[in-house]
Amino acid sequence: MHIFVTGGAGFIGSQFIRDWAERFPEGHITNFDKLTYAGNLANLTAVEAHANYRFIRGDICDRNALLEAIPANVDAIVHFAAESDVDRSIAGAAEFVRTNVVGTQVLLDVARERGAKRFLHISTDEVGGTMGLGWFFEDSKLDPRSPYAASKTAAEQLVRAVGATFGMDYVITRTSNNYGPYQFPEKVLPLAICNALSGQPIPVYGDGLQIRDWVHVADNSKALQLALLQGKAGETYHIGGGTPQTNMEVLRTLLSMLYCHESLLKRVTDRLGHDRRYAVSYAKIERELGWHPEISFPTGLRSTIHWYRQNQEWVKAVRNGEYLNYYKAQYGLNLPAGQVV
Ligand code: NAD
Ligand code: DAU
Repeated sequence: MHIFVTGGAGFIGSQFIRDWAERFPEGHITNFDKLTYAGNLANLTAVEAHANYRFIRGDICDRNALLEAIPANVDAIVHFAAESDVDRSIAGAAEFVRTNVVGTQVLLDVARERGAKRFLHISTDEVGGTMGLGWFFEDSKLDPRSPYAASKTAAEQLVRAVGATFGMDYVITRTSNNYGPYQFPEKVLPLAICNALSGQPIPVYGDGLQIRDWVHVADNSKALQLALLQGKAGETYHIGGGTPQTNMEVLRTLLSMLYCHESLLKRVTDRLGHDRRYAVSYAKIERELGWHPEISFPTGLRSTIHWYRQNQEWVKAVRNGEYLNYYKAQYGLNLPAGQVV
């Protein structure tokens, strides 16, 4: 089986590639990634030597690059590539529309032309918007409220449109907040871990009572593999952790695991239009494909903290932009300095 992965140098995509390569050593994987600030080939050292793995640096908005990179009749396209950070989308939406909407459209066009047998599209629970009471199901109404969520909603609707119009085989997944190793420390959990480990304050937006549902990235990767291999064409599956908690609860648990004082938590101005609660139901994927999360939040958080403690070099390189030198040395790429967080 040959899979063509976009955005495989990011947090979730790299987990998926590492897991897939271990599970299917005979399978072929092409990783197509633009290497934005969020893409880091150091996340993939475990598979670099894999005979059937190849990396291509490219932009999903570039039709010619995709035409060249996607083999005819490829078995599946697994589409992670996106601008993924809500705060950045509030600061400027243009790159989100370009990559998440236009990039998805260009990728869909080329996928059809190349006769891709399946298109697995990775979406988010944020397309459902903020929930009052109750759960977000696969057939609930979509109500995106941030530029990021709006761009992801447009992307998944484009996938459905191509399925309905041209009969393309697709599966869409919507995941809640992922956490785990290799996550870029702009997202709240790795940011809080890294700041706490270096005694720096942890910003808490607004009252900190916003609710998020945390799923470990390794559990998500298993669900994505199932969706790809056994998901029914044209279906959408939600993937969640079943652990809805307020940000304050999560950060307090984190600090207690690190033996740090709560005075590290610093209230800051709230995110504009901050969604109050996400509550994704994963009942469908459990019922139809037999998936449920296996890693409890405390266990996953402990192991994530352990990973960040053990991988301070990775953290340092990511935080000061040094990882870009790695590309230069390895691939002769002359990349602009990445945004330092
Ligand atoms: P990430 O930001 O860590 O990685 C994104 C990857 O896409 C990077 O490697 C980047 O270089 C690449 N990329 C960006 N623009 C590109 C372009 N134009 N062409 C090719 N590659 C490009 O993101 P992530 O957290 O791993 O998320 C992966 C996917 O999962 C995204 O589609 C995101 O919307 C979705 N998602 C993420 C979460 C989460 O909690 N992280 C939850 C639900 C859904
Ligand atoms: O729900 C899935 C989504 O989860 C994904 O689709 C996105 O790609 C991913 O970035 C994530 O979005 P969030 O906005 O939920 O993640 P973030 O880590 O930015 O924020 C999580 C919560 O923590 C949110 O309520 C905002 C809050 N927060 C965030 C940061 C960065 C803080 O209180 N302080 C912070 O410094």
